[in-house]
Amino acid sequence: MTLLASDATIGSLAGRDFLKEVDLTVEEWRSLVALAAELKMERRLPGRTRRLAGRSIALLFEKASTRTRCAFEVAAHDEGAQVTYLDPASSHLGHKESVADTARVLSRMYDGIEYRGSDHATVEALAAYADVPVWNGLTDAWHPTQSLCDVLTMLEHSTKEAEQIAVAYVGDARNNVARSLLVAGALMGMDVRLVSPAALAPGQDAVRQAELVAASTGARLTITADRRRGLAGADFVYTDVWVSMGEPPERWDERIEQLAPYAVDDALLELTGNPEVRFLHCLPALHGTDTELGRQLASRTGRTSFEVTPDVFESERSIVFDQAENRLHTIKAVLVATLASRGEGIR
Ligand code: CP
Ligand code: NVA
Repeated sequence: MTLLASDATIGSLAGRDFLKEVDLTVEEWRSLVALAAELKMERRLPGRTRRLAGRSIALLFEKASTRTRCAFEVAAHDEGAQVTYLDPASSHLGHKESVADTARVLSRMYDGIEYRGSDHATVEALAAYADVPVWNGLTDAWHPTQSLCDVLTMLEHSTKEAEQIAVAYVGDARNNVARSLLVAGALMGMDVRLVSPAALAPGQDAVRQAELVAASTGARLTITADRRRGLAGADFVYTDVWVSMGEPPERWDERIEQLAPYAVDDALLELTGNPEVRFLHCLPALHGTDTELGRQLASRTGRTSFEVTPDVFESERSIVFDQAENRLHTIKAVLVATLASRGEGIR
């Protein structure tokens, strides 16, 4: 697919927040994907432009992160900006200082603020009180920097136009990653299927938002518990951890029982009927017992793989590390587009 960012469309994102997919128009969303592809190519060239020289950004994390934090830091560095990282224990936010006050203080010092936490209302409040762009680095409701990356990764690994691509997410379809994929896929006009037991189906608010977008893009949306129906003909199969950050660890036993039939193994991939099917995962992934959590769960439940088997995770079908790299390029596009000076463009 040809990806070219329109300056005019990207320009409309200058000074804006990036909180959830539906806050952007179809054209803005697609231009951001295209800009990420351009920035990815440009990174390999000598003598890059540093579009954010002299800027400073704050990264507020109330939950753990590897990819999102590193992508924001490296993207900012590539473009000449400097970063302050505030971990879950090292700011007053939420303990001794309100969200509103934190937003107003950081706005006096920084050109933009990233936030990762639980309640989506917190990032909305930060944005309401901040005078600078606020970026959602994950809340319980949405993970828009992830879905932007997921779209770019699918386009790169397919010869099809976005409208012809089918992606099937299997697992906990109520979570942030599934909800964001649904809306992002709708913005791209894709065929998006969320496949989960009924108890873990996405909330109606997310489905409604995606349906409204799909009405204008022609996207096809399927919410189903039926694995055969959900997987038939899929180009990409996507899964995520069965218990998300912030959920009580006791959930694991119930979740394993609910989601065991939806674990991504070779047999599940066969249901696509597509020998070219590719496997996606936002990461971190529990695909064996080489993590502390994996070992704890294995000794308690006897199960040694969870949302994906080691065979699939390590197979040639798996493009999870290409996907992880794209966090950098897509987050850079968000920074460049939203921190651009109004009316001056991004070049
Ligand atoms: N996919 C993702 O958001 O990874 P991190 O939790 O490591 O940031
Ligand atoms: N659904 C996962 C995504 C991690 C990137 C979580 O919220 O923990």
